[in-house]
Order: sequence, then C-alpha cells, then structure tokens
Amino acid sequence: MKGKSHPANDRSLNVSGNPSILDVVERVDGSRRRFVQGGIGATALTAAGGLTLGGLVSSVQAAPVPPGPGFPGFGFTSVPASLAPVVDRVTVPAGYSARLLVAWGDPIMPGGVPFSGNATETAAQQMKSYGAHTDGMHFFPFSTGGVVSSERGVLCANNEYTHEEILHPDGLVGSSGFTIDKCRKSQAAHGVSIVELRRTAGKWSVVKSSPLGRRLTANTPMRVSGPAAGHAWMKSKKFEITPTGSTDTGALNDGYTAYGTMNNCAHGHTPWGTYLTCEENWNGYFAAPTLGAEIAPDLEDQKPQILANGNRYGISRTGFGYRWHEVDPRFNADTNPFEPNLYGWVVEVDPFNPSSTPIKRTALGRMKHESAQYVVDKDNRLAFYMGDDERNEYIYKFVCAGKYNPTNRAANRNLLDSGVLYVARFDSDMRGRWIPLQPGTLGVNGVALRDNPSFKGANDAEVQAKILILTRQAADAVGATMMDRPEWTGARPRIGGFDEIEVYCTLTNNNRRGGTSVNNPDGSTAAGSARPPVDAANPRANNLYGHIIRWREAGKSVAATTFSWNLFVQNGDTLTSKAPLPTNDFKGNIVDDPNGSADYGAPDGLWFDPFGRLWVQTDQAGDALGDWVNIGANCMVCADPNTGMTRRFLTGPPNCEVTGVTMTPDGKTMFVGIQHPGEDSTAANPTQFSNWPQSQWTTAADGVTPLPGGRPRSGVVVITKDDGGLIGS
Ligand code: FEO
Ligand code: CA
Ligand code: CA
Ligand code: CA
Repeated sequence: MKGKSHPANDRSLNVSGNPSILDVVERVDGSRRRFVQGGIGATALTAAGGLTLGGLVSSVQAAPVPPGPGFPGFGFTSVPASLAPVVDRVTVPAGYSARLLVAWGDPIMPGGVPFSGNATETAAQQMKSYGAHTDGMHFFPFSTGGVVSSERGVLCANNEYTHEEILHPDGLVGSSGFTIDKCRKSQAAHGVSIVELRRTAGKWSVVKSSPLGRRLTANTPMRVSGPAAGHAWMKSKKFEITPTGSTDTGALNDGYTAYGTMNNCAHGHTPWGTYLTCEENWNGYFAAPTLGAEIAPDLEDQKPQILANGNRYGISRTGFGYRWHEVDPRFNADTNPFEPNLYGWVVEVDPFNPSSTPIKRTALGRMKHESAQYVVDKDNRLAFYMGDDERNEYIYKFVCAGKYNPTNRAANRNLLDSGVLYVARFDSDMRGRWIPLQPGTLGVNGVALRDNPSFKGANDAEVQAKILILTRQAADAVGATMMDRPEWTGARPRIGGFDEIEVYCTLTNNNRRGGTSVNNPDGSTAAGSARPPVDAANPRANNLYGHIIRWREAGKSVAATTFSWNLFVQNGDTLTSKAPLPTNDFKGNIVDDPNGSADYGAPDGLWFDPFGRLWVQTDQAGDALGDWVNIGANCMVCADPNTGMTRRFLTGPPNCEVTGVTMTPDGKTMFVGIQHPGEDSTAANPTQFSNWPQSQWTTAADGVTPLPGGRPRSGVVVITKDDGGLIGS
C-alpha cells in the first residue's frame, strides 16, 4: 500500500552513501544464499551461472528454465519491463491471456447493481459489490465426493483500503462536504469480498446471484476469541451502528465482540478450508484529536498505558485523513480508547457459510499483520508464519497447541485459539531463534515478561492477554530482530524430493536503517521511528529495493525453536549507476538472463504455487520514474527457489500495485490482483493516470459484462495459457 492516505512506507529517501554498509555487504555476500546446514542452496550460484553456458545468452530467455528438486521449471519468456510512460494495461507473456474477472463496484450477490462508472453508488450498494483496493486472496474450490473442482469455487479477497477521490463523485470533501454517507461508503468498500466463480465453456465469470456472495466491511459483527478475548482492554464502548450514524449506548462491549475488519492486506488460509484476513494499517482509521486529553476520568490510571499503546502502534492526531472519527465516534481513540485494541488481528472466515461470524484470533498476536502462511509438518504440528509490516518490525510464528486433524474438520475448529506465539531473532552466524512471547520469557533486561510493567497482571492468563494485545512491546522486550518491513510469508511445498520446512518473507524496503536507535526494550518507541544499524539479515543502510529472506526449521519441525536462514535475493537495478560502487547495494543480485532482464524491487506479494514455482509481486512507485526507470512499472515475477533464476511474468498499469495471487487446483487458471491503478488522481480528473481496466478491455472475462470507464478500478485478472497448460509452464 501507499498513497496519500497512507504512511509513506513505500518510497525511500535519497541514497545514503553510508560507507559502513560496504563491509557488511561483503561479509554477508559470499554466503548469503547458503543455509548453514547445507542442502541444495549450496550450489545455487554455480547452477545459475550454468544456465548461461553454450552461447545461449541472447536466446536463453526463450529456453525453458530447467526443473530441479521440488521445482518444475518454467517455460515462458520474460515480458519486458514496462518503462515510463507506463502503458495502461496488464501484460503477460506470449502464449498467455489475461482478462478481467471482477473489479471494485461489480455486483457479487443478489441485489447488487452494475457499476455505473461515476461512483454514484450508495453505501448500501457498495455492500453488495466487490470492495476497493483488492489485495491478498485465495480460491476455495467446490468439492464433490472428494473431487475438487477447477471450474467452480469461492474466491475470498481482501479489500485493503480506499482512495476517497475516486470512491465518491466529488472526493473526500468536495461540494457535499464530508458526511456519514461518505464514511459509510468508505467503510463498506473495506474488508473482504467473498465471490462465487464459475467457468463455463472456458470463460470465467462471477456468479452475481450467488447465495455465497458476501461482504465483510468495517462494520460487520465479529467474534473475538483466544487468550486476549474478554480482557478489560478489549471492552470498548458499545455503539448502535446504523446507516445514519453510530450512537453510544452507554454500555461496554463484552470483550468477545468486535465490529468490522479493515486494512486487510495480505491473507492466509487454513488446511481445514477457512480464510484468514489480516489487519494491517488499521491505526490510520483512528484519530486521537486531543492526543489523550479527552480520555475519560475513570480511565485516568490507565492513561499512560493507553497512550504508550497508541504510540507504539501509530495512533495519531489525524490518522491517515479518512476523517471517519468526525462522523463515527467509534473511531475516536480519545473518547473510545480501547476500540483500537479490537484491530490488528488475524480474522478467520468460513468461505462456504455466509451466515457464519468471522472470528478475530487473538492468539496470533496484534500487529500490522501482513499475511499468515501455514505449514503442517510430518507430525501434523501446525504453525502460521507472519510479518508485521512497518519499518523495523518483526517476523513471528504461531505454533498451535493441538495437532491438525486431516480427517475431521470440526476437530480443527479452535486450533487457532491456543498455542505459542514466537518472534524471530536472526543471528549473524546465519542461524536464528524463535523466542516465545510468554509470561516466563526473560527480556533482554533479565526481567520476565510477567514482571515487566507493561504486561503485569493478576495472573499469567492476564499477563498473556496483555502480551498479545501489546505484541510489539513484548517483541521489543525480548530482543527480536528489527526487519526491513516484513510483508508476505510463503512456504515452499515439500514435493519432488524437497522435504525441508523452508519459509520465505519479503522485506519490501526500509529507509530507516543505518543509525543507532533501536526499538526500546521498554516498548516506548513510536511506530516506525527507530533507525537501527544494519545487521546480517538486513544488510542495507538504505534498503530502497528490498530483499527476500528465507529460513529452514531445525529438525523439519514447525515447533522448532531454532532455524537456519539466508537471503534468497537482494533486489535492485542492475543497470543503475548509483553510488556507492563497487557494491551490489543498489544493483542487487537477481539471477536473470540476460543480466538485468528481470530486475524488480519492493517485493511484497510472495507465494509458492503447489507445483513449486515461487511468485513475487511488487509494490513500488507505479510511474516507473526516479529509482524505477530501468525496472519499470509494478510486476509479478516467477523464480526458481533452487537457483534464484527469475523471469518477469506480468506487468501492471500505471500507479498500480500487483498484489494477490491464487490458482485453481489444476494449476491452469491463475488469479492476480491489480490494486489502485491510477492512484493519486483527483476527483476532478479520476482518469488522469489510468482508466484501467476499461483501457484494456470492453468486456469482462465472461465476454458479456461491459466494462464502464470513468475511473480506474482495482480488480482481479484471470490468466490462462492459450494451450490449456499449467500456468508458468
Ligand atoms: Fe499493505 Fe504491507 O502491504
Ligand atoms: Ca500499494
Ligand atoms: Ca506493500
Ligand atoms: Ca502488501
């Protein structure tokens, strides 16, 4: 995410030129692709070099990338970088086709109305239509008699945020002012879209009348479960929420109830077939206009803790500028100071039961959740790997107390409620440690978390609840490694002779490193404000282009407390002339052929398909200017996890982000999200930068539904191979 309404996390500042980075990079460079425990990564660089032999340098792009252990190879030719001025279309390789599946404003359930093109739809209509700013998603196939379909299923997709200048005809304020109607429409465009899909005669379409069609929004009733549920800090004011306003009932919620989910960035799913939506930059919808002065007198003794919590998670006087709090007092963090504690969770959703209540699973911690990738190990132990996306935040895993039961879905229903949340420490010897966030864990100051003033409680159950509500502060206390903005996590499938538990995480960028300030162990650091020194896992002082880290669990067990790690890639621009040289600080070490042909930066979306191909999506400046002149517009690449060999598979329209990818079980249909094409346009000229998807097609993938222009729309494209083959082959 980026944009006017959001923290400037994505764009880096000027090149630092800090020479102290050079030593570190060189020290890490030679071994960064090797796991200390050995394995296939050891030959990565020589294998990659081998691909260029035989005089094939000029034509090798068209030659297949050969298979390797647990990897099926790929056969497509890289699409070129989409250089400025960026063409207003999605481009895929020769032999592949892309069409629009669904976009913001398209009806997805009975009563929905076709998108007008001018954004005159009401909040009520938005609640029956596909949400804004599509992000992480997963395809849940229909299953009959144990046979899964690749032609029918349910797509669950996140709707991360809104751009008010195109959401409303006259923008955020405009001639009509900022009103509760606008607030409600904005809230209705957030959340999750659940959409039934069908393929008929080779053409994909949304089943617009499906009873499975559903929207979760910033107002949908939810349940809160797990160790933090019911705690006093989870009991916010109870409002009566109606289309015309939110009225304070004078009562408190019970601590097991929440309303809404928002800033749903990436996602996850479970082996028992539920969807996980992750709440990322939720802080920006709250505002504390008096910075705590209006906190009620009866909470005076808790005020320091409330303010420290808000400071660490980035609650500010104005938020991101959505202004919801002006018309919806639920979002005023001064007068309703515990409401922010109901956000920042992983939310579990049953895609096949539209009347089910989504559940916020507090055991997985409270942060700016990006994604939640599960792994089941050989013993049916189950863990979820997660990143907290802000500069200098952490990587986590949650290990369920109970084992996954593959034969009894109901037995897994509450697996996400008990277990241990760990945070990662990446040590310079390429090993790492998972530190449990539990009452008895000692902080770096030698004091157990139960005796740390931030988490003190009547008993360990209360201490644990506080640790989970204040996850960032707990991670600060135990000395976790501050990372370069953790985005998606992805687990490599254990197939074709590959049997390690190997998990990847994109570290998208960081312009706050290279100094000496760290997240204070006492949890007092303002969100994103520290400027730590470089370290082995985050070796760039000014990490403009980002990198991808990966680790292998000891003993091939998700319950391991130690792991080995290395850097899969440091992203960059091979053609850059940036100083300082000679280093790869900005050139990166992407393996491609010809060198520079598949450069990419700001990795964000990351996903292994079930066949072993690694897909990475980018979230950088979408105009392909400045630091991106050679890399071009945002894109999706495919990489060989054994050799790192990379090809560019897709490029997006101007000012978009490519985010969200999933497949049908047969691997022959891929769905890819295009978020915020034409971002930063104004209400007066919404198509200033893009009119996608209408710029590319006149009808949707069904060949029938017309695509109105008028304003750019986030949407999902469906990609197929013209010969009917596997995507990526
Ligand atoms: Fe919403 Fe971390 O990207
Ligand atoms: Ca974005
Ligand atoms: Ca991002
Ligand atoms: Ca993201």
